[in-house]
Amino acid sequence: MKPSDADLIFQHPNPVREGVSLLQGLLSRRSVSPRRLLKPGPNLSEVRQCVASALTAPDHCRLRPWRFILIDEQSKDQLGELFVQLKLNQKPDLSQFERDREKNRACAVPTLIAVVAKCTQAHPQVPVREQHASVGAAIQNMLLCAHGLGFGAKMVSGRKADDLELAAALGLTANEQLFGFVCIGTIGSDQRNTARPNVADHLTIW
Ligand SMILES: Cc1cc2nc3c(=O)[nH]c(=O)nc-3n(C[C@H](O)[C@H](O)[C@H](O)COP(=O)(O)O)c2cc1C
Repeated sequence: MKPSDADLIFQHPNPVREGVSLLQGLLSRRSVSPRRLLKPGPNLSEVRQCVASALTAPDHCRLRPWRFILIDEQSKDQLGELFVQLKLNQKPDLSQFERDREKNRACAVPTLIAVVAKCTQAHPQVPVREQHASVGAAIQNMLLCAHGLGFGAKMVSGRKADDLELAAALGLTANEQLFGFVCIGTIGSDQRNTARPNVADHLTIW
């Protein structure tokens, strides 16, 4: 059988050591605001590792209810203009500062990966909520992989996720939904670490 990307990328000789670092990575991950992300972002091989990690998400009936679009360096300007247009639709009197801010949401982020859900409607075994759970898990795996590679990352969406013009520009079809963008880059400056919730507040025993 042909080895998958994940098989090729993650051949570790010591599963115990790998387990420890995985746990540390899980517990230490935090989102890093795109404003704090600097170049360089991950190279193509590292982006592929992030996507390979996404593809190990739990996925009932192997529907693969996702796809990922890496925004090319040359396309960022176009995406930035789309973000500005979207904002103009909501607020026609944008200041230059607001225009630049919208544009930078695409242009200033080192690496942007659009996350698209493509769910099977009325599947006999897998309701859409389970497919959405798979997409969420894929996003988390991608964030964790970026963290493991030493990058900062954050998932962002905003109102953009519902914009049909943006979806069409990215080439989405009618049965696909934009979930947002995973932003990845080198961590530029420290940020305040918000406290994590207490386990006791989120775990009950029945
Ligand atoms: C699908 C999805 C979309 C999100 N969109 C946004 C967003 O547009 N803006 C934002 O500030 N946070 C957004 N978040 C939340 C952040 O990614 C992040 O989880 C949150 O800021 C908490 O930080 P933490 O991951 O360090 O706990 C989104 C999360 C998910 C799962």
